[in-house]
Amino acid sequence: MLKTTLLKATEASGKILQQYFNGPFEVSSKSTVNDLVTEVDKRSEAAIIDTIRETYPDHFILSEEVGEIKTDSSVKWIIDPIDGTVNYANGIPLCCVSIGVEKDGEMILGAIYNPFMNELFVAEKGKGATLNDKPIHVSTKTDVTKSCLVTGFPYQWQDMPNNPLQVFERIIKQGIPLRRLGSAAIDLCWVACGRFDGFYDHYLHSWDCAAGFLIVEEAGGKVTDFSGNRYSIYQKELLATNGHIHSGLKDLVNGK
Ligand code: IPD
Ligand code: CA
Ligand code: CA
Repeated sequence: MLKTTLLKATEASGKILQQYFNGPFEVSSKSTVNDLVTEVDKRSEAAIIDTIRETYPDHFILSEEVGEIKTDSSVKWIIDPIDGTVNYANGIPLCCVSIGVEKDGEMILGAIYNPFMNELFVAEKGKGATLNDKPIHVSTKTDVTKSCLVTGFPYQWQDMPNNPLQVFERIIKQGIPLRRLGSAAIDLCWVACGRFDGFYDHYLHSWDCAAGFLIVEEAGGKVTDFSGNRYSIYQKELLATNGHIHSGLKDLVNGK
């Protein structure tokens, strides 16, 4: 039941993303001038919430643009109506919808759909992860210096020791390929299906990672904070790998 609603909601959102792609649509700024929200984020979000509400009127919802719609339910839907909004606003088809379902504080279901590549990633706790219904697994690479990595940069500069630029510099000085796609949810899915061996980001929100975190774990990967502790979607730092390069990438990220 939950999964049926989840897939219905991602499909409804995917149609909206396709329908409005390349505009025209309204765009405005949030935390910084380049932290954007478009009319399409709001339309996608409304379609997702309406779909959930049809079957589960009392479930808790946490969605990027509307925030928390609190209830007493033990089930919480965590929604990013467009992950990669800056890409979307610029007509770059690297963006997706991401929806995670948490029950009693544990992620149990997640789906991420990039309608422009027709790629639907789904994971169910304990049942593995799929891409368009086919099982996926993380890569088998063991040497971080031979890996292909991805990261993201926050909208607001993080002026702190070991900031994103210092970590970036450390990795590219070793000649390790490091990409920046602009969608944390897609970054996580691409680790899960083995296109990337590892992903790290200094500053993410729960809706960026709720579904992707489970998809990586269910594909056999490892997700922690920068210290190697168990990851929670309510913290900012995230390190996700195929497991084999985890300690190598952790050392690079921490400058050890
Ligand atoms: C952003 C993307 C980006 C990441 C940012 C996120 P949004 O989400 O996931 O890759 O670097 O930190 O905020 O704003 O497009 O939903
Ligand atoms: Ca996001
Ligand atoms: Ca978003």
